[in-house]
Amino acid sequence: MEIERVQEIATLSTLKGTIPSEFIRLENEQPATTTVHGVVLEVPVIDLSNPDHQSLVASISEASKNWGLFQVVNHGIPSELISELQKVGREFFELPQEEKEKIAKPIGYEGVEGYGTKLQKEIEGKKGWVDHLFHRVWPPSAINYHFWPKNPPSYREINEQYAQSLIPVADKLLGLLSRGLGLEDGEVKQGLGGEDLIYMLKINYYPPCPCPELALGVVPHTDMSSITILVPNEVQGLQVFKDGHWYDVAYIPNALIIHIGDQIEILSNGKYKSVYHRTTVNKDKTRMSWPMFLEPPPEFEVGPIPKLISQDNPAKYKTKKYKDYVHCKLNKLPQ
Ligand code: OGA
Ligand code: NI
Repeated sequence: MEIERVQEIATLSTLKGTIPSEFIRLENEQPATTTVHGVVLEVPVIDLSNPDHQSLVASISEASKNWGLFQVVNHGIPSELISELQKVGREFFELPQEEKEKIAKPIGYEGVEGYGTKLQKEIEGKKGWVDHLFHRVWPPSAINYHFWPKNPPSYREINEQYAQSLIPVADKLLGLLSRGLGLEDGEVKQGLGGEDLIYMLKINYYPPCPCPELALGVVPHTDMSSITILVPNEVQGLQVFKDGHWYDVAYIPNALIIHIGDQIEILSNGKYKSVYHRTTVNKDKTRMSWPMFLEPPPEFEVGPIPKLISQDNPAKYKTKKYKDYVHCKLNKLPQ
């Protein structure tokens, strides 16, 4: 069975000037009719090098309660490394199709890792205008290099460097989130599996789309992860849902976009909110993004941190294994 990639569909669609009907969203979902135009919403931008720890805790915790999304600058990851990460990822997606298929998700395989296109159609049989690649990058015991591109040859080294440089940033963010809940630095990370926390990298590849006002890239969702640390390219596309409307999130060169995911919402017993977001596509340009999902190990149980619950503030979420959470979410079963 041959799987059709959006990248190939895009080439044909651009020639014809139309897109297949399964990519045309229902009217109440189309970006043209549902985006608030002329306003680029001011998602909080936080300077991670701020020496005033108290104010850093306060701004991260406010952003995580009110938005579930913020951007960080002065995070310490060199801009050259971010550019290289983007370059090797783009080079992989620009390889001939048969090269990419070598690391495709095998047919019938249940795992997440590999090159692919979302197969499961959504409600009304609609599809998103995006292909992807998933592979774990940390810890070493969780890595399966089979799903890492062999080409370009520097792909592995650059991605390993990026993963290494992200660890202190992730630890700092989790520490600040922990402080914001009145806990010690390490308690949130501990509640997510501690040093066994898994770094799952995804690359999204959104080819140019002749009808960007009718299609969506990634459809509305919250991330299942604890937090997601995302590097975008310069093409606008990420939108957040706030107060009943969809807003574009401004692109800031070299900033990292932090999403609060479901596991942090659960662990904080609802104090921090996972962000509902989606992506739009562009008529002439390829958009790409590199979200890193920080996930608890599959067998690890996540639930509201006991210190945060009391008789007055009972647990709002179940405590369950991360793999069971994922299963329910993917199969649209109650949690
Ligand atoms: C995702 C996602 C956003 C983006 O892949 O979960 O939300 O900017 N991506 O591509
Ligand atoms: Ni997402």
